[in-house]
Amino acid sequence: MRASSLVSRQGAIAMLVATVAAANLLIAPAQAGTLYADLGEQRGLTRIVDGLLERALADARIKATLEDTNIDRLKRLLVLQLCGLTGGPCRYTGRTMKAAHADLNLTPRHFNALVEDLQDAMDAEHVSFWTQNHLLALLAPMHRDVVAARAGAKPEAAP
Ligand code: HEM
Repeated sequence: MRASSLVSRQGAIAMLVATVAAANLLIAPAQAGTLYADLGEQRGLTRIVDGLLERALADARIKATLEDTNIDRLKRLLVLQLCGLTGGPCRYTGRTMKAAHADLNLTPRHFNALVEDLQDAMDAEHVSFWTQNHLLALLAPMHRDVVAARAGAKPEAAP
């Protein structure tokens, strides 16, 4: 009697697990188990990007670089880019990182400041340390194009 109720309980649990797995497959076949999912999908990414820009615009180290920028457009493109980069169902339609940052004269200091603002924005959204590092590892190679966009160009002549 006890044995059979145990079996049926295990059977019920197995069915529940299978049902949840199937539901996940139906709801989000491409995103389950992705960094995109860990970051909270579209809603989570939007909140992180909003938090990042809010911090960057108040950050004395980098706010001047954003002075002439259409912030709503930048937010939209950043969410698109991060969504595509992390395995979400988006395709980035903006410029290349090299083209977008070529005229900004960005230094490693600017880059590090933005990364710190991003970390703070992710902390505020309770993104785990592991997930944060995963995203930062995807962004790190962009340093080359963002900061060194003008590498090889002659330094500005002194006035
Ligand atoms: C991995 C690091 C970075 C990523 C992923 C990134 C991503 C982007 C994206 C997607 C755009 C929009 C491209 C377009 O306009 O078509 C953009 C533009 C821009 N980014 Fe970045 N960016 C990074 C680093 C930085 C840093 C360090 C700064 C300055 C502190 C910065 C400042 C800007 C500005 C001002 C624009 C607008 C340029 C314009 O409107 O002409 N970015 N970035």
